[in-house]
Amino acid sequence: MSEHLIAPSILTADFLHLEREIEMVNRSEADLLHLDIMDGVFVPNLTFGFPVIRQIKSVSQKPLDVHLMIVDPDRYLEEYRDAGADWLTVHYETCEHLHRTIQKIGELGMKPAVSLNPHTDVALLEPVLADLNMVLVMTVNPGFGGQKFIEASYAKIRKLKQMIKDAGARTLIQVDGGVTQENIGSLIQAGVNVFVVGNTVFSAPDPIQTISNLKQAL
Ligand code: DX5
Ligand code: ZN
Repeated sequence: MSEHLIAPSILTADFLHLEREIEMVNRSEADLLHLDIMDGVFVPNLTFGFPVIRQIKSVSQKPLDVHLMIVDPDRYLEEYRDAGADWLTVHYETCEHLHRTIQKIGELGMKPAVSLNPHTDVALLEPVLADLNMVLVMTVNPGFGGQKFIEASYAKIRKLKQMIKDAGARTLIQVDGGVTQENIGSLIQAGVNVFVVGNTVFSAPDPIQTISNLKQAL
């Protein structure tokens, strides 16, 4: 039996009633709260900064899974830790000294993860795989919620699963983008452990029930 984790992404939440949305997640079977940090440079969109993360942290009972879509993330690792990040994900495409960045995230007491854009080969992570708590396979191009899942992601997930097995590592596989109640079953079968879910949860008539359905899938 697989134990998969659900991480609702507040990108498509109602920001005028953010506290209410986070309290909904608190009451749900969700495992993590996913925060998308965008800088308008690495991705063509902007979200929010440290004061907002700190306030979210003060309300959230779920660990914060912070997904950085920013250039030069090394400049701010400590600030994200201080703002309340429990898991910290950097993009492979933004780190010139990825090994050093991963070590630093771990030294700061956060769980390090690396994210790959749809065009980036999972094989590039082989040298650092055992140092990572999680690899995030982007299943849409980062920047926006509500996009269509890229089907070619399945091949990447299977390849990554095999790499983790070969390395004898315990690294989790996370997917982000276009996850639905329809495709979560086949993604679990392909080996995904952690699911970021934005639109499917926050546009649902009953988000708590939807999270429960996603958690019970397969
Ligand atoms: C996209 C973000 C995602 C987004 C997912 O760049 O990283 O976390 O919120 O949204 P959905 O689930 O709607 O595709
Ligand atoms: Zn994300």
